Amino acid sequence: MSKTLLPPARASAAIRWSERRLAAAELDYGHGTDNARDEAAALVFHAGGWPHSAAPAAYRRRLPARARAALRELVRRRIEERLPSAYLTGVTWFAGHEIRVDARVLVPRSPFAELIGERFRPFVDPGKVARILDIGTGSGCIAIATAHAFKGARVDATDISAGALAVARDNVRRHRLGRRVRVLKAHVFRGLGTSRYDMILSNPPYVPRRDVEALPAEYRHEPRLGLEAGEDGLSVVRAILKGAARHLNPGGALFVEVGDTAAAVAAKWPELPFLWLGFEHGGGGVFVLSRAALLAARPKGARAARARR
Ligand SMILES: C[S@@+](CC[C@H](N)C(=O)[O-])C[C@H]1O[C@@H](n2cnc3c(N)ncnc32)[C@H](O)[C@@H]1O
Repeated sequence: MSKTLLPPARASAAIRWSERRLAAAELDYGHGTDNARDEAAALVFHAGGWPHSAAPAAYRRRLPARARAALRELVRRRIEERLPSAYLTGVTWFAGHEIRVDARVLVPRSPFAELIGERFRPFVDPGKVARILDIGTGSGCIAIATAHAFKGARVDATDISAGALAVARDNVRRHRLGRRVRVLKAHVFRGLGTSRYDMILSNPPYVPRRDVEALPAEYRHEPRLGLEAGEDGLSVVRAILKGAARHLNPGGALFVEVGDTAAAVAAKWPELPFLWLGFEHGGGGVFVLSRAALLAARPKGARAARARR
């Protein structure tokens, strides 16, 4: 990209300038946006130092020369380094909430946002949800948005990555949710003792090892721990299914995103009556299982042993 060519000063024109370049570069838009225009607008607002809420009036503002140079550099890095724009701006939006991100965490994009918008109805009675667990919280996006949706509930947000835990803690603090959202280190359920929850949520890593390399370049900037889950992509899901019933309260439910491994999950556990959810705004591969369904599907020996305890 030429060093001399600066984007236009007017924000609306700078957005068009950026959009044209992003569109021509055939980028992947799987990281919180799905088109060049939204990414262009995010980069222009970041360069201008304007909050998201300044739109649409800010489209008429003018970018000073320093901001235009910064924008040119942001667009160059998005194209040449294939960095997701959320890592360039350090911020993204999830279920209507601002979430800080960097390369220690996956860029939030889970269809869980829609379930949160519906307060997980009709699968749970929101009035009866007091304790929630989010396994593999990353930036904390699901835990934070769920805590906002369930004002009376307490949420445990867990991860095994020290970097992710630091980002999640920062986001929880920014959202002033420190009293209700606990950020904890735990390997799936290991580290949680005998805690029980009314809802267990998880968007765990679920990409088979061999498939990670084939993902678009943007994904290589994300932590591998957030994507890859062993040979078959099921190592974390397996541990979740194994321990969930023990950590759910009666009437509770488990919600897990497994993306493209949905068919493999259904084939691997034919005894489990997965309910696969549909989404209005795209995405899929999310199942719900009630505690009762998890218990009923257990091998008879395990059920008898549990009854004796
Ligand atoms: C797909 S990312 C999801 C992050 C966030 N929940 C979201 O939706 O954007 C999965 C997260 O699970 C964490 N993780 C990986 N293995 C784990 C394990 N065994 N126990 C707990 N967390 C794990 C990763 O560090 C990563 O932050």
